[in-house]
Amino acid sequence: MDTPRRQFLASLTLLGAGMGKAKAFAAAKPHHFSKYDPQVRRLLSQMTLDEKIGQMTQPDQQYLQNLDDLEKYHIGSLLSGGDSDPKSGNDLVSWTDLYDGYQARALKTRLRIPLVYGVDAVYGHNNVLGATIFPHNIGLGCTRDPKLVESAARVTSEEVRATGMNWAFSPCVTVPQDIRWGRTYEGFSESPDVVKILGPAAVHGLQRGSLDNPLAVLACVKHFAGDGGTTFGSGMPKSNNSPDRYPLDQGDTRVDEATMRLIHLAGYGPSIEMGAGSIMPSYNSWNGEKCSGSHKLLTDILKNGLGFEGFLISDYAAVNQLPGDYKQQIAQSINAGMDMVMVPEHYVEFFNNLKTLVDEGKVPLSRIDDAVSRILRVKFAMGLMNAAHSPLADRTLHKSFGSAEHRAVARQCVRQSMVVLKNDNHTLPISRAASRILVAGRSAHNIGNQCGGWTIRWQGQTGDVIEGTTVLAAIRKVVGQDRVTHAPDASGAAGVSVAVVVIGETPYAEFMGDRTDLHLAAEDIAAVDAAKSAGIPVVVVILSGRPVIIDKILPKADAIVAAFLPGTEGDGVADVLFGTYKPTGKLSYTWPSGDSTSFNRSDPGYKTLFKFGHGLTY
Ligand code: BGC
Repeated sequence: MDTPRRQFLASLTLLGAGMGKAKAFAAAKPHHFSKYDPQVRRLLSQMTLDEKIGQMTQPDQQYLQNLDDLEKYHIGSLLSGGDSDPKSGNDLVSWTDLYDGYQARALKTRLRIPLVYGVDAVYGHNNVLGATIFPHNIGLGCTRDPKLVESAARVTSEEVRATGMNWAFSPCVTVPQDIRWGRTYEGFSESPDVVKILGPAAVHGLQRGSLDNPLAVLACVKHFAGDGGTTFGSGMPKSNNSPDRYPLDQGDTRVDEATMRLIHLAGYGPSIEMGAGSIMPSYNSWNGEKCSGSHKLLTDILKNGLGFEGFLISDYAAVNQLPGDYKQQIAQSINAGMDMVMVPEHYVEFFNNLKTLVDEGKVPLSRIDDAVSRILRVKFAMGLMNAAHSPLADRTLHKSFGSAEHRAVARQCVRQSMVVLKNDNHTLPISRAASRILVAGRSAHNIGNQCGGWTIRWQGQTGDVIEGTTVLAAIRKVVGQDRVTHAPDASGAAGVSVAVVVIGETPYAEFMGDRTDLHLAAEDIAAVDAAKSAGIPVVVVILSGRPVIIDKILPKADAIVAAFLPGTEGDGVADVLFGTYKPTGKLSYTWPSGDSTSFNRSDPGYKTLFKFGHGLTY
């Protein structure tokens, strides 16, 4: 029987169109982390149980009660999760000092094993003021260009290393199927064929082909597995006493194993081949069982099946979502194959519980030894165990942080990620000789909306969150200050040569971005209406983390460009608007029309406005 789901699965093989450049990466050599086992065994034999458990414990630095706890609990890793910032500010020096302070203390412990310090550098070193911010993955997916994605990741790794940090929780190789999910923009594409090329390209850029390169950071491929396949309505409750739900995030992915492998695991095998040293199991469940506690997923499929020799880091407090009390939760997760736990707060409790579990025989010592060996393998591969190389920050890298060279790479990413959805009457490219351009819309001069979630704040922030070039500023650079009028509501449109109206979503991250309604805001529609009613050509630029419903503006806009979340380099948007760069971007997600009753692309109620791969040029 040819069910809609079957047809949908069959169609997947067609979706890799345009991925020819992928071959550039086919020859990369897999890292065999087990080659470090002789050194690892020697070190392991000197370690006490406490020292081993410490390697498996990752507190968020903001919850570290005092610096000496690094020694007392033999902590092997720290993270700065969303909003876990240095107390002195988000500038480059404060972040570097934060890292150096912890690392210097770790170097004074008995075994002097350096920390791996993790941070969500998901599209640039996005927690740090002055960083180069790239397009979110949804935009990079539209480039279909693995070399470019690798270059972006290289810049990110260099900027992360400028702060000393050595581990990025990136790339996200999710394959989102329902665009109502708040993490849609973290995925390169709805198509596994795109993700399986661009994910490993990002790994290659971050790790630079060799983890002991002083500019490399450890990649963390996430979220394993099926994070983008959760069933609408199965997401996390908003609070314990409210039936209200975030409909998708951290929900249940109800698919058979063949579908799980075909769609959601697509990025993992190639990323492992590319040498990814860490992988983050996901918050979501697979057919009712939480991934963080699934022996089948973590050990049978990922470690034994896909041959992953690096280590697994849990998601933030994800272990706490397993059934039972905390001790039972820890036992289930570690026995399933989790190697390091992002605790993040109650690290003393975690440490003591895991120790008791080993003493009671509920977690075998062989599992602890395996987990610690995996962590140490990666630390050896990173060159951290080489006493000749200081793991403290190389502050000479500060001079290239957010540099013109780095921004040029981001600008190229922006250019290639723009997708021209519509272009009637050759409205685009806009003539540089246009006598007057009206720049309108609430996002025209809003770097926060242009960057989206994860910039400086976990949720991102509308407004002046970070330095960068807005679309308005970029247009002014092209045609000069005098010929540009800025009016967010498009007032004063009469008589201008063309209006550019920049509209879309405001920032969000994770579950806070789950939406049931994908329509444009009334204010955005009003701005387009106002421009159109002046009888001038109207170009709409949409800044959003996913396709949104544009039916109401479609007949009024002469041209529409989907810019997704381009980051700090608005010049790349202007390059496409004025034709300095002829558009090449192709949709990495299907774009739905407003009469859809579902926004999961495999549901029968999904109605397509623009097909996957759509993108005009001139
Ligand atoms: C997210 C991860 C992230 C982690 C650390 C979690 O809430 O799901 O993607 O890496 O936090 O900040």
